[in-house]
Amino acid sequence: MPDARVRIAVRRQRDPESPSSLEAFEYVGPTHVSVLHVLEWINDHPGSRTSTADAPFEAIAYECSCEQGLCGACAMVVNDTPTLACQAFVDEVARDGLVEVGPLTKFPLVRDLVVDRSALEEAMIESHAWLEGDAKVTPRLAVHQYQAGLCLACGCCLEACPNYAPGDLFCGAAGAVGLMGTVTKEPDDAHREDMRRAYQERFFSVCSKNGACERACPAGLPTMTLVSQANRASVWGFWQRIGRRR
Ligand code: SF4
Ligand code: SF4
Ligand code: FES
Repeated sequence: MPDARVRIAVRRQRDPESPSSLEAFEYVGPTHVSVLHVLEWINDHPGSRTSTADAPFEAIAYECSCEQGLCGACAMVVNDTPTLACQAFVDEVARDGLVEVGPLTKFPLVRDLVVDRSALEEAMIESHAWLEGDAKVTPRLAVHQYQAGLCLACGCCLEACPNYAPGDLFCGAAGAVGLMGTVTKEPDDAHREDMRRAYQERFFSVCSKNGACERACPAGLPTMTLVSQANRASVWGFWQRIGRRR
């Protein structure tokens, strides 16, 4: 099969204070390749730039590690959809021969396609989402506890969530999935109540249950099912239990 030509537009920004702009390239090669592969190809072929520019080409900054959809590092926005660049194939995502690539917009920008996702980790720490004792395995919940452990912390669900904005207390599906995994396994009653309280404040009171997170999740997690289980563990009877402790 002859090589195809695909227009690639990449949103570039040197640092958080600089203005952002789209830089255009023409990729020439097979099209059943990942967007991540094309970014690598562009960095190896600076002459593929088609935008007029005075400055010499600087390599596009992006994150990646596994290139197998397992680490979440390469999450970005491809043709308006949050996704993993290593799992988005050019022949499947191109629209009229164009692939537009930009960074996730709900996290502070570092450079080009690299963002700072430490807010995800901070939300988990502030929600006390860890185990104080040995994990309590509940056969009824084992499948869902396993699924919660598959979260990549990629942030695609927050990008798609209409209720999440940077800096919010609301932690979105990524937070709810993480809390579901810990609150249902924690054997320590007092610590479990801390997590229930965090879930109430940081997720339950804001989520509108529209399911955008599940449609966006590149790991294919059933986020709405996991949220239902987290609701069951964290909300039902919560205030009665808290009342008993006061
Ligand atoms: S269900 Fe909707 S509001 Fe709730 S976390 Fe998912 S995307 Fe956000
Ligand atoms: S729930 Fe899905 S989209 Fe959200 S952080 Fe985890 S893997 Fe990514
Ligand atoms: S590089 Fe690991 S998910 Fe894409």
